[in-house]
Amino acid sequence: MIKIAAIGDIHGGFDETDIALFNKSDYDLILVVGDLPGRTHTGTNEIARRIAQLTKPVYFIPGNHDGVTMIQLLAELKQSESLIERAHKKQFRLCEQLKQALGPAQYCGYSIHPIEVRDIRFTLLAGRPHSMGGAPLSYKPYLEARFGVSTMDQSESLLKRLIDKSESPILVLAHNGPTGLGSSRDDIFGCDFKPDQGDFGDPDLEEALKYARSVGKRVLGVVAGHMHHKIRGGGERVTLLERDRALYVNAARVPRIFKDQGKVMRHHVRLLLGPDELKAEPTYWS
Ligand SMILES: [Fe+2]
Ligand SMILES: [Fe+2]
Repeated sequence: MIKIAAIGDIHGGFDETDIALFNKSDYDLILVVGDLPGRTHTGTNEIARRIAQLTKPVYFIPGNHDGVTMIQLLAELKQSESLIERAHKKQFRLCEQLKQALGPAQYCGYSIHPIEVRDIRFTLLAGRPHSMGGAPLSYKPYLEARFGVSTMDQSESLLKRLIDKSESPILVLAHNGPTGLGSSRDDIFGCDFKPDQGDFGDPDLEEALKYARSVGKRVLGVVAGHMHHKIRGGGERVTLLERDRALYVNAARVPRIFKDQGKVMRHHVRLLLGPDELKAEPTYWS
């Protein structure tokens, strides 16, 4: 089996100890689902430079907090078309800086990466970058300029084209998971910040996964984050779910580094990938 570490929303929680632990671990590769900056929306490139020190192959997809300004983030939250248009221009430079800071780590998004380890092969398919969840297409001006994607339908089509180019089996890396996995606040990608709750997954990704299955491509699973484990109003969401022979992983344990009974704990999800199976286990290093 290929051993893969999935690191959820980092939000400032990735330090020198993490670098040392992952570098001496038995992992073959590391997936980082995005959202690097801390609470004040700063420190993105600092965290990226730490990720760059990992000696294993790393695949990173930007989240809604990465390579964007605070004003952009607020504009997206408000869905203010005019502010989104005015605020988006810095994203090109910020994303370039982030890419540089990540060094040898692969900067992914709408991309496919054939991987082979010890005779086991799979395609890592990275979904839509900078996803913020739900129906609106987040960071549209950037996606349009960079990928020619300005609607959710166009995003779905691009993902389907990537699936056509992918060899089975496929593992998906995304910032947010797909729709279709539940609409309660404690569902794996359920909305916990609206009174009506709802499904806060990515609709383009759900359609792309349906398409993959319809054309006979084997999807082993989806590794994502974004919808933090602790939910508003108390409780924890579902973080692992098996559906249609695929395993859905929400790795967003925030904070990633925390104290439990005086001990510092560090979270990630350990994945084992075989030619026709994917297993996941939440892992805490102390
Ligand atoms: Fe996050
Ligand atoms: Fe996020």
